Amino acid sequence: MKAVYYARFGGADLLKVGDLPAPEPQPGEVLIRVRAAGVNPIDWKLREGQFKAVFPYAFPIIPGWDAAGEVAGLGADVTGFAPGARVMAYCRKPTVQWGCYAEYVTMPADAVALTPAGLDDRQAAALPLVGLTAWQALVETARVQPGQSVFINAASGGVGSIAVPLARHLGARVIAVCGPANADYVRQLGAHDVIDYRAADVTAATLALAPEGVDVMLDGVGGEALAAAYPMVRRGGTIVALNNAPDPEACAARAITGVRLFSSPNGAQIARVAALVAEGTIPVGDLHFMPLEQAAEAQRLSQAGHVRGKIVLDIG
Ligand SMILES: NC(=O)c1ccc[n+]([C@@H]2O[C@H](COP(=O)([O-])OP(=O)(O)OC[C@H]3O[C@@H](n4cnc5c(N)ncnc54)[C@H](OP(=O)(O)O)[C@@H]3O)[C@@H](O)[C@H]2O)c1
Repeated sequence: MKAVYYARFGGADLLKVGDLPAPEPQPGEVLIRVRAAGVNPIDWKLREGQFKAVFPYAFPIIPGWDAAGEVAGLGADVTGFAPGARVMAYCRKPTVQWGCYAEYVTMPADAVALTPAGLDDRQAAALPLVGLTAWQALVETARVQPGQSVFINAASGGVGSIAVPLARHLGARVIAVCGPANADYVRQLGAHDVIDYRAADVTAATLALAPEGVDVMLDGVGGEALAAAYPMVRRGGTIVALNNAPDPEACAARAITGVRLFSSPNGAQIARVAALVAEGTIPVGDLHFMPLEQAAEAQRLSQAGHVRGKIVLDIG
């Protein structure tokens, strides 16, 4: 099968396009003929070796954790999927090796969702990882309630582009942080208030909007942004951080629940997010399409940190 792969950790130049054997579906697995693959920051972070002490891995590694396409084969004991059915999946596996920048990928059936009729494969490929992250952060972890305030930074990126409208759909007041070029985009996604992190004191601007602090913070930046987060969250509030673990002492001082989320594959949850998008309740964010052969350039763009919405690779 055609695939993008790398044989050692390092820069984007190591990505090659070539032929690798297609995976075989094992019992309980679905073989997906991938038509489009989402690009996420984890793809280049893994390629650089940032997670080599976290996840077991085996070279050559095919990057990519987001797939949409159709069922090309079924392992033993799989029910609920017919050959040819359109499907989508977040394809994180226990060992990093077989990803989605390829014509075929396998996943356990419980991680796979049927793609709703209202979504094409490119739209579907943009959703699994970020959709599950937003869902698991806002619904499963923070349990956002109508009337609560939710602060979302990196609001114009992949996660933010689904987290902002999901938080709005849940009935929250959404305070979003992004650069000046993305303010209108983030407002269109559903943010009530937008803070320009380059021009404003984010803490002061947030406290001007929510004097007691926000109920929920979804932090997709980490580092200094997370270090500055604690005074912006009300006593008893929740921080869901995607890059670093929140500081337990800083959380305890304000009775904040601090969670470092690592989103997990879940077919039922992605089906719920996909249905919200397909029915138009949640808008499709900006999508940028590139051919599989330009995977290295796609990862360079992601790594530069200013993609609005998502990059999707066309596999054909
Ligand atoms: N733990 C998990 O399960 C999990 C899941 C998904 C993502 N993540 C991590 O979460 C982070 C966000 O993911 P993503 O897919 O949304 O990334 P992304 O798409 O690459 O985010 C890009 C966006 O971030 C914005 N941005 C950059 N620096 C910012 C800052 N200091 N403050 C506010 N916005 C800023 C940019 O807006 P401007 O151009 O306007 O600056 C850009 O639109 C990444 O580090 C990713 O690895 C973790």
